[in-house]
Amino acid sequence: MSLVKDVFSNTRKPTDTKAGWKMLRSMNRGHRSGNNWSLDQLPPHKFQSILDVGCGGGQILSDLHYRYPSAQLAGIDYSPTSVAGTTALNHELVDDGILMVEEADVAALPFPDSTFDLVTACETIYFWPDLVDNMREVRRTLKRNGVFMVSCELDTKWMAFPWTKLIDMNVYNRDEIAHAMEAAGFTGVQVVRRPGLKGWICVMGTNPRR
Ligand SMILES: C[S@@+](CC[C@H](N)C(=O)[O-])C[C@H]1O[C@@H](n2cnc3c(N)ncnc32)[C@H](O)[C@@H]1O
Repeated sequence: MSLVKDVFSNTRKPTDTKAGWKMLRSMNRGHRSGNNWSLDQLPPHKFQSILDVGCGGGQILSDLHYRYPSAQLAGIDYSPTSVAGTTALNHELVDDGILMVEEADVAALPFPDSTFDLVTACETIYFWPDLVDNMREVRRTLKRNGVFMVSCELDTKWMAFPWTKLIDMNVYNRDEIAHAMEAAGFTGVQVVRRPGLKGWICVMGTNPRR
């Protein structure tokens, strides 16, 4: 693997290396505005239990706490380095029992059925092993009428071209993401695109049953 590809493989699964930790910091900075724009699209519910899947460096969990200060938060990531990074960034929330961070794969979430009223997945579905099956697993953990939100900066093959050369990833367009959500059983699926050249998309769906 070339050195550049080696560095960028840390987007897929950050490693406990200088490059891995640098990538976590850079994703926290670089994804923050787009992911917060996606959070702005959520319905005005007072979410009380929130899971962030593929939490990376943990910035979104910190921002979720700011937005929903009384919510109980959980973050999972299959990279132990991401788990360590999220925990370090949010150590006060962890110490106060507001946030639990665990190493886990989206394919087998370590939570009982109907646990959360919001699940977020930011800049991570590109790496999921089976999009529809994994979304079904997310739905299992959602309460009835719970909301699933996907946030992505890349939703066209041409925009993704430089990255797909460097990173082993699947880029889905907005219709593919919406159809996958519907196939996983979500209803009321909505797609919102951030205006401007550098698109960002937010796709949301609701869990219709327990
Ligand atoms: C590009 S980073 C995005 C991190 C963060 N959500 C953000 O927006 O900055 C993708 C993250 O998803 C995690 N990830 C990828 N596949 C995963 C899987 N199957 N299960 C859990 N986490 C996964 C990676 O380890 C990485 O931390």
